[in-house]
Amino acid sequence: MSESSEVVAESVAERFQQLYGGAPDGVWAAPGRVNLIGEHTDYNDGFVMPFALPHTVVAAVSRRTDGVLRLHSADVDGPVVELAVDALAPESDKNWTAYPSGVVWALREAGHAVTGADIHLASTVPSGAGLSSSAALEVVVALAMNDLFGLGLRGWQLARLCQRAENVYVGAPVGIMDQTASACCEAGHALFLDTRDLSQRQIPFDLAAEGMRLLVVDTRVKHSHSEGEYGKRRAGCEKGAALLGVDALRDVPFADLDAALARLGDEEEVRRLVRHVVTEDERVERVVSLLEAGDTRAIGPVLVEGHASLRDDFRISCPELDLVVDTALTAGALGARMTGGGFGGSAIVLAEEADVLAVTKAVEEAFAQAGFKAPRVFEAVPSAGARRMR
Ligand code: GLA
Repeated sequence: MSESSEVVAESVAERFQQLYGGAPDGVWAAPGRVNLIGEHTDYNDGFVMPFALPHTVVAAVSRRTDGVLRLHSADVDGPVVELAVDALAPESDKNWTAYPSGVVWALREAGHAVTGADIHLASTVPSGAGLSSSAALEVVVALAMNDLFGLGLRGWQLARLCQRAENVYVGAPVGIMDQTASACCEAGHALFLDTRDLSQRQIPFDLAAEGMRLLVVDTRVKHSHSEGEYGKRRAGCEKGAALLGVDALRDVPFADLDAALARLGDEEEVRRLVRHVVTEDERVERVVSLLEAGDTRAIGPVLVEGHASLRDDFRISCPELDLVVDTALTAGALGARMTGGGFGGSAIVLAEEADVLAVTKAVEEAFAQAGFKAPRVFEAVPSAGARRMR
């Protein structure tokens, strides 16, 4: 388990003082996430169901009024980076600083008077693990600016601005799930989110109370080169929607899937993408119904179906992710699937509490035997969304 956000908040505030010569106006935290179900549906206006991790990005921040933005991170070697808020320009920055400055840019571009800040950050969200460390970094900065400049924006509005920062300023064509999860999740709940209008329902998700656990297995395969592939999948989905004459694949009802696939004729690749997205939206709705009916164990097979669809139709899994899923199921897990964007990153495993050790051991042994890097396994407890800590 990583250090608690409270402990990190203390050291982040102290370091802020050393760097900038005064106490911060406040300290904020925003979590990473895992997605329970609903993968690659968000840019198709569909459904997702993430929950927040206890791992957060913590930011100590003071407001400035002179147009200067100063950034520093405990996780990156290097001096304080100083920028002029007036000079922030999309795709001008290829470093980590593009995320926080992109948020300031997006807020200003939307007409909010953000006149500068001193920021020091520290993260306990594993980076490159598909657990949304970038979204957490964006959201923590957005929330701090919202509070310090009295912008009065709601969580979902901050999420939209963070997505814009990432799409336009950083230049990554991501959907809205990760930012909304970081901004809006609640402890003990998964977030059932309609990504079309960002309407949401908090679904109680307390596995421990029911004798189960959810493990995150970080394969430690960095999802490099994934952005090009991500963009290709996204473009393929958009092509599918256009060929079917709908605004987004969300508008293809599950009951009409076969007819829709038939209409796609020999567009085999588009057909596979469409089939994944339409069936995945249905799986999210099924998981919500099962959880609301108190039938939690029954979501296991739905997670497994989701993995098969991502592996065979969407084609974004990798040998390490498949090995986690297959091994965990053989060792008695209730369900397992890759989570996040794919091509590496993490898988989730749902298991009876009594089986956790055996499942973990089986996965570790299988990785050793296959000659893969040792995976990082930890239990994920649905935790709080972004908040002010002091
Ligand atoms: C990444 C993106 C999200 C979403 C997932 C796949 O995490 O940032 O917007 O598309 O991949 O579900």
